[in-house]
Amino acid sequence: MNKKTKIPFVAGNWKMHMTIPEARELASKIVKSSVGLSEAEIVVAPPFTALSEVMKVLEDSSVQLSGQDLYWEEKGAFTGEISASMLKNAGCQYVIIGHSERRQYFGETDSGVNKKIKAALQHDLFPIVCIGESLEEREKGETMGKVARQIEKGLDGLGSNDFERVIIAYEPVWAIGTGKTATPAQAEEVQAFIREKLASRYGKDPASCAIIIYGGSVKPENSYDLLSEKNIDGFLVGGASLEAESFIRIIEQAIKAFKEKK
Ligand code: 13P
Repeated sequence: MNKKTKIPFVAGNWKMHMTIPEARELASKIVKSSVGLSEAEIVVAPPFTALSEVMKVLEDSSVQLSGQDLYWEEKGAFTGEISASMLKNAGCQYVIIGHSERRQYFGETDSGVNKKIKAALQHDLFPIVCIGESLEEREKGETMGKVARQIEKGLDGLGSNDFERVIIAYEPVWAIGTGKTATPAQAEEVQAFIREKLASRYGKDPASCAIIIYGGSVKPENSYDLLSEKNIDGFLVGGASLEAESFIRIIEQAIKAFKEKK
């Protein structure tokens, strides 16, 4: 993994929340409370409208900025879209790609995800690539098949150098915003499978260094147990990242669990 990126890796996806003043306030609280937590890579993903103002707040801190999505073209007549270079210019180091909400509500496909990953990498943005199964797929026993397909198609054409800068976020759709967290064992089972899958594509060593994070109803109360699992390197947090206190407690628990399992 790129030397700039640390583990545990904890990113807050603010989704469609936060006006500019609210975003500034939340970012300031996170910056203040994160002073002693520099062992973790802390990332916030505000909505596009707040990116540059949040960047001003993050400037002298170790907290990193992420976009929530991008479009793969460089520029042009694509109303409503944002390019990788625009995100980079706004101060982003990361970008979330292929979130299940984008796939579910906005028709995002694996081949679109693939183009977005390539566009991000071309502009030196590290993609946080989301994969995961629906409840129906889990109940039919199709979980591994689904994530395997998302990896194969999403990472198609990416060489080892590219792959080193990719973060995988396993987010079971049934656990997002529902309060139903995957148990540590359920998350570990899939994340271990994802690492194996990556090993078969890129080799054992690169796969063992890959950052694979979990998302779906992560809270301060469950973050320690989840991160204690071997293949869980961090979190993509939704609801609990909208308040500085709970987000910071998750980071503290992640650091504690990470130190203990090392
Ligand atoms: P929740 O933490 O609200 O379940 O959201 C998870 C998520 O989708 C993060 O990207």
